[in-house]
Amino acid sequence: MTYTTTLAPRALSLFITGTDTGVGKTLFSAALLHALARYHPRVVGMKPVAAGTELIDGVPANDDVLALRAASSVRVPPELDNPVLLPDPVSPHIAAERAGVCIDIAHLVACHRALEQLADAVVVEGAGGFHVPLSATETGADLAQALDLPVVLVVGLRLGCLNHAMLTAEAIRARGLTLAGWVANHIDPAMLAQEDNIAFLQQRLRAPLLASIPYQAAPDPRAFPVCLPAAWQHAMTRHDTTLLA
Ligand SMILES: Nc1ncnc2c1ncn2[C@@H]1O[C@H](COP(=O)(O)OP(=O)(O)OP(=O)(O)O)[C@@H](O)[C@H]1O
Ligand SMILES: [Mg+2]
Repeated sequence: MTYTTTLAPRALSLFITGTDTGVGKTLFSAALLHALARYHPRVVGMKPVAAGTELIDGVPANDDVLALRAASSVRVPPELDNPVLLPDPVSPHIAAERAGVCIDIAHLVACHRALEQLADAVVVEGAGGFHVPLSATETGADLAQALDLPVVLVVGLRLGCLNHAMLTAEAIRARGLTLAGWVANHIDPAMLAQEDNIAFLQQRLRAPLLASIPYQAAPDPRAFPVCLPAAWQHAMTRHDTTLLA
């Protein structure tokens, strides 16, 4: 038997999770899209499951989805960058049940694979924290694992975040996933010893600090630097082995 191995470029893709809901995943995801756009012509954000809509021009819309689209450089069909849009701003499994929707991880993965064909870099923002329930039996961790992506952890700096960050890093690695980096987000200007907390996590998370986001009265994803690992500045390589027989 003869095998040939071809090396084909593949979209860079990352899964963004956080220590909690409301810790800056969307702000960082948008910043990451802007940073990646310096190296990749087509970047797109994906919010597989969004819970909470408001009517804009009579059409239900979700803030995260709009923010990621604003930071993307290509337009894609809405059913790909946001396959599940749920009206109620509650945990996705409850929002889905209320809407009579079944969240199908295989479908979310298929949408992500389609986006990889349409863009050079795909930034996927998870809902809530890593173990947020998506159904009675599945969580965001199952989605991250099914997508099989490197994970970036956004740490919302507030009292208790060290425990949340360590637990989340452990959960990511327990799924066999790579913690590709983490982000320190100064969401609470009144928090004491912020730099000591960052120093602890730099020692213990065993992953690079990609950004330290200052507290901003009007948060702007272009207002702080993102440190991109060199590997993210190039398309990834797909090892595509074909059996010739
Ligand atoms: N560094 C910051 N300074 C000031 N406000 C911030 C900062 N980071 C985030 N925020 C604000 O905190 C709120 C939550 O941020 P964001 O929406 O990015 O969090 P999230 O983790 O994506 O939340 P969700 O779980 O709802 O997706 C937003 O109103 C955002 O503008
Ligand atoms: Mg968000």
